[in-house]
Amino acid sequence: MCGIVGYIGDRNVYDILIKGLHRLEYRGYDSAGVALETPEGKLNVYKAKGKVSNLEAFCKDKDLSASAGIAHTRWATHGEPSDHNAHPHYSQDGRLALVHNGTIENYKVLKDALMQHGCVFSTETDTEVLVQLIEYIKLRNGCTIIEAVREALNQVQGAYAIALLEKDHPEQIIAARKSSPLVIGIGDDEFFLASDATPFVEYTKEAVYVKDNEIAVLRQGEPLKLLSLEGDEEHAVDVTELQLSISQLEKGGYPHFMLKEIFEQPDTLRDCLRGRIVDGGRRIVLTGVLDNARKFLDAKRIVIVACGTSWHAGLLGKYLIQGMCKIPVEVEYASEFRYNNPVIGEGDIVIAISQSGETADTLAAIQIAREKGAFVYGISNVVGSSIPRETHSGTYIHVGPEIGVASTKAFTGQVLVLTMLALCVANLRGTITEEESNELGEWILKLPDIVKEVLGLNDSIKHLSAIYTYARNFLYLGRGYNYPTALEGALKLKEISYIHAEGYPAAEMKHGPIALIDAEMPSVIVAPVDHLYEKIVSNVQQVKARGGSIIAIVSKGDKVISKIADHVLEVPAVPECLTPIVTSIPMQLLSYYIAINKGKDVDMPRNLAKSVTVE
Ligand code: AGP
Ligand code: GLU
Repeated sequence: MCGIVGYIGDRNVYDILIKGLHRLEYRGYDSAGVALETPEGKLNVYKAKGKVSNLEAFCKDKDLSASAGIAHTRWATHGEPSDHNAHPHYSQDGRLALVHNGTIENYKVLKDALMQHGCVFSTETDTEVLVQLIEYIKLRNGCTIIEAVREALNQVQGAYAIALLEKDHPEQIIAARKSSPLVIGIGDDEFFLASDATPFVEYTKEAVYVKDNEIAVLRQGEPLKLLSLEGDEEHAVDVTELQLSISQLEKGGYPHFMLKEIFEQPDTLRDCLRGRIVDGGRRIVLTGVLDNARKFLDAKRIVIVACGTSWHAGLLGKYLIQGMCKIPVEVEYASEFRYNNPVIGEGDIVIAISQSGETADTLAAIQIAREKGAFVYGISNVVGSSIPRETHSGTYIHVGPEIGVASTKAFTGQVLVLTMLALCVANLRGTITEEESNELGEWILKLPDIVKEVLGLNDSIKHLSAIYTYARNFLYLGRGYNYPTALEGALKLKEISYIHAEGYPAAEMKHGPIALIDAEMPSVIVAPVDHLYEKIVSNVQQVKARGGSIIAIVSKGDKVISKIADHVLEVPAVPECLTPIVTSIPMQLLSYYIAINKGKDVDMPRNLAKSVTVE
């Protein structure tokens, strides 16, 4: 997820591009760059690590004349944030400049093939492979740039939105998309291009959303052309009249980043598993694990360290890894681990989980683990952040920037990576049958669509939230895989609505907390069909018998708990180890709507920060 901006027309190209990048910075900004084509057809590329303001400072004394330009604010996936890994990327002969949003899954295969044909690469990015491939095809076939783009994109696996400038062609920008967003603004003898409409909505309301497998040709003085990736056929140009404000556009039309990020989860789960669950679910490819297979084969113990929501994901990691890999797993708050003289050493694996990759306690825990000789594996979202740099290996969750302080898509992304890690290691260690692994792999591929279905509960949860807006306390109960999920649900509620909420193992209620139950103490009980279902039925009955009101999250078609609970939220039945990704969604929505009903600032709750970089 990042930001692309393009412009061709008579306005000041550079100004349009830079202003547009600022509008898109919320989409990710580890580095930024612009490519400007002068009216004489000269290509100038300027780029800088860090925020867009760094790029502006770099461009201060440069030649900024242009009749067309493209720009990019990066959210790195392949190749750490740096000046040279920033986009735009030149082709080898410098005749092409390209920006890209997305991931080229088969970039290594393509890169090796191009290197065998003499291509020299100057960055570690997947994107550079694409621009080199386009150039290679154009020179080899002697074809037009559009034909070269079409053939190159037909060889690409993955997600892309691209914009391309060609030297000596100041009159055109070529763009294309598959999975990553791209929208064209149509002005008066001018075209805008962007990842969303925020960079150009003040100039034109006429928008054309580029569809998957479409190539767009923007030429000043000519009508927009949309071409098929399959052949020469031209597609119809459907113009949409934009109605949204800039602020609404930044949030994708949602009122808050948190709600946008909750609804992004079908796409972010797809991005997270892309290229990692392959062959229809029969192969799990986590390079961080496979490149260190011996470590995972020999591991006698795994210790997971994290904070907050990431710690809840870590607790699920324990259940997943112990369940599939038969390796003992301990889960520690990083803040405790760093001070409780951990007894770890060679042969132990420490998994550090952190969305931001900058949490001070987790960084400190990693340092101690390394000093004691453990192999440290990171699970993060921000490429090039401190934690991925400090760990021996790891996996990115690839869910894009998470702006809302309350973690939602990052949680489900972390849990998905932990699920894939457990499955990958279990296959290595032979602790899961091929049939079990294949079945689970197939189910994982279905998760984005299943989560999309669960989001259909939005309206009923919004309605339900009104009943509980003024509750002063909440209990969240679950068992097995849904105990950590209950903890996460409770954290969501308390951190954005400021209602006290406590997660508990449902069976623990009888050891004290059940004394809290009365009509004023609602309970959310996470009770999908699993091997503990019969047990949690009695826990539900115990709460009900004491007058507690119950919101139950159950599997579709539930016949028992749904008759006891006051409110029932049904989710599709999935294998037990996948239930947390499904059951966490209703609790995200419930906490969001209760907080909204209370007039809270859900994106920036009081006292909290998105990344806790202090002790
Ligand atoms: C979760 O909603 C909170 N924002 C917080 O608990 C967060 O999970 C914690 O601070 C850890 O952050 P990290 O994943 O970036 O390390
Ligand atoms: N995969 C490309 C890179 O890492 C593009 C990332 C993005 O969408 O910003 O450079």
